[in-house]
Amino acid sequence: MKVTGICGSPRSCSSSGMLVSRALEGAASRGAETAFFRLGSMDVKGCLACYACRNSGKCIQKDGMQDIYEALRSSSALVLGTPVYMYGPSSQTKAFVDRLFALIGQGFRSRLGKGMPLLTIYTQGAADPGLFTGSFDMLEKALDMLGLHPAGRIPAAGIGEPSDLEGRPELMDEAFRQGGSLVSGKRRNQAGKASSRSV
Ligand SMILES: Cc1cc2nc3c(=O)[nH]c(=O)nc-3n(C[C@H](O)[C@H](O)[C@H](O)COP(=O)(O)O)c2cc1C
Repeated sequence: MKVTGICGSPRSCSSSGMLVSRALEGAASRGAETAFFRLGSMDVKGCLACYACRNSGKCIQKDGMQDIYEALRSSSALVLGTPVYMYGPSSQTKAFVDRLFALIGQGFRSRLGKGMPLLTIYTQGAADPGLFTGSFDMLEKALDMLGLHPAGRIPAAGIGEPSDLEGRPELMDEAFRQGGSLVSGKRRNQAGKASSRSV
């Protein structure tokens, strides 16, 4: 099976990226193939609201999002990490989520044609891990409609800089553990061979 990870931080070295990578390592340790996309280094534009995708199921914007659509179609689980910006996801993450509008089919059924578990990872400067729960719930509700079913959430609170993770090994351990949990015995790649790709 394949597990795709997406990091919505604009930073080239980011705490959310480190945690997503660790979750992918957990999945790979159980035999999953992994792919990692860093939205900050990609060209993923915001939705144009042209509604062309309503009938075709395809977005007319030929940017980096096309690679992500392809990866989602061939994946069995998704890890999404984003920093909290102004009580919500980063603009890079929001653009990605809006572009998933193309995957909503008739009767609000997912055009992915399958459900898959979703692990979300949020990094935030504030120390209270429950402070942005409402915002996380809303984001995951939209993703649930697309067949990306919430299977785990890691709110990494009190993390202002990637170096803050050095003093929080329990967060890295939790990411590894929950990443591994995405790979059930049934979903596991029969070949048992791990491979990875990153953008
Ligand atoms: C524009 C901006 C807005 C932010 N808003 C919040 C916020 O509302 N709440 C919070 O706790 N931290 C906020 N932060 C801090 C980031 O969430 C925090 O630094 C996070 O660890 C960054 O993750 P990254 O290293 O993955 O980019 C904000 C940072 C920036 C740059």
